[in-house]
Amino acid sequence: MSHSSAPVRRVTDWDFEQLSALAGEHGTPLYVVDLDRVAENYERFSAAFPDAHVMYAAKAHTGRAVLETLLDAGADIECAARGELQRAIEAGADPDTLQYTAVNPPDADLDYAAELGAEHPGLTVTGGARDTFDRLEARGYDGRVAIRINPGIGTGHHEKVATGKDAKFGIPYDDVVDLADDLRDRFDLVGIHAHVGSGVLHDDLDDHCRAIAKVADLARDVGDEDLEFVDFGGGFGVPYHEDEEPLDMPTVGERVREAVGDLAARVKLEPGRYVVADSEVILTEVNTVKETPASTVVGVDASLATLIRPAMFDSYHPIANVSAPDRAAEPVSIGGPCCTSADVFCTDRPVPRPEREDLLAIGNAGAYGYELANQFHSQPRPAEVAIEGGETRVVRRRESMDDVTRVEREAGEARAERAPRNGERGAEGTR
Ligand SMILES: Cc1ncc(COP(=O)(O)O)c(C=O)c1O
Repeated sequence: MSHSSAPVRRVTDWDFEQLSALAGEHGTPLYVVDLDRVAENYERFSAAFPDAHVMYAAKAHTGRAVLETLLDAGADIECAARGELQRAIEAGADPDTLQYTAVNPPDADLDYAAELGAEHPGLTVTGGARDTFDRLEARGYDGRVAIRINPGIGTGHHEKVATGKDAKFGIPYDDVVDLADDLRDRFDLVGIHAHVGSGVLHDDLDDHCRAIAKVADLARDVGDEDLEFVDFGGGFGVPYHEDEEPLDMPTVGERVREAVGDLAARVKLEPGRYVVADSEVILTEVNTVKETPASTVVGVDASLATLIRPAMFDSYHPIANVSAPDRAAEPVSIGGPCCTSADVFCTDRPVPRPEREDLLAIGNAGAYGYELANQFHSQPRPAEVAIEGGETRVVRRRESMDDVTRVEREAGEARAERAPRNGERGAEGTR
């Protein structure tokens, strides 16, 4: 196991020749994930927390190849939904090692968890509402549980990810000791959990550690010697802007240990973004270049359906011109084919001047990238190619139009041999 990998991989560090060849072979838009980088990131993170149990938060990227890579690297998997549990098991996770963090869990998810727990007593279910535990008990579940607490402090790159101060997540701080007493009679209470926020970089680290200290204090009030673990969630960020520095993980490890203080229970962490963000890029081709009095508009074939983070969180993603990295940079606004002004990857950003048919790479697309991809405008989702040990392979084939419409056809809506429904009207009727 090597821990010497660079703590940051910028979009310009990718092998542009290899990216061009992959785009030529598989088309665009295309996700390209470097599985070796995924493993390196996990190893670097784990090395900073030698005594902790470091899981991987599947929600950041639930691709099977990524899960397999992390299981091989020694990670256990934290899941936030039934589908993630199923996919983790399909990727080879031992169900007895899984942790299910239930947020407003649908009945079907709790049914599944209760059934899984009956067969696999190592499963841990984390609840963030009293009635989640009642609903589990009603399903005959009396196994391992953890309490998600709301520390009242949120951090991160955007207010929509500062979960630690959002009432939606976790049991109110002052109710936790009482709930713990109650749960001990009904379940095997093994842990306390909190997730403070996401995308935490240097400026947010103080608040993040303050929240961690608060969670550790509460764990001691609950009785840390009777707990197996205290789980401080994920949240560790990566630099998206070219001039941002990466976290120095040994220092972060030290600061987290200081914030935690003496604790009889084992520290658990569940990073998502840190592990996968810089392991993946999106390749996209330029199809339009338009000069306007306001800006130079560059159209590409990726869109908010491919990567929704800029539209959803105003996220910055670095963009490189793979075809012409040395061309003079000019301010351009780059967007996709979706009919909303939110479908932009950058506004007036200096990029080596894109021309039609140039290949661009959108960096740091590994976390909450493919995971949030959708089919807006009936666009099939892209293929994903993995690089591993110098070899490349398709790990998700490109969706076809058949994939997009299959659920309607399977619902009986197939009308292969039909005359146009509005054929009577013809062109006249539309005038
Ligand atoms: C409970 C929990 N754990 C872990 C994570 C992973 O966070 P990140 O990707 O910022 O590390 C999240 C993110 O939402 C979460 O809600």
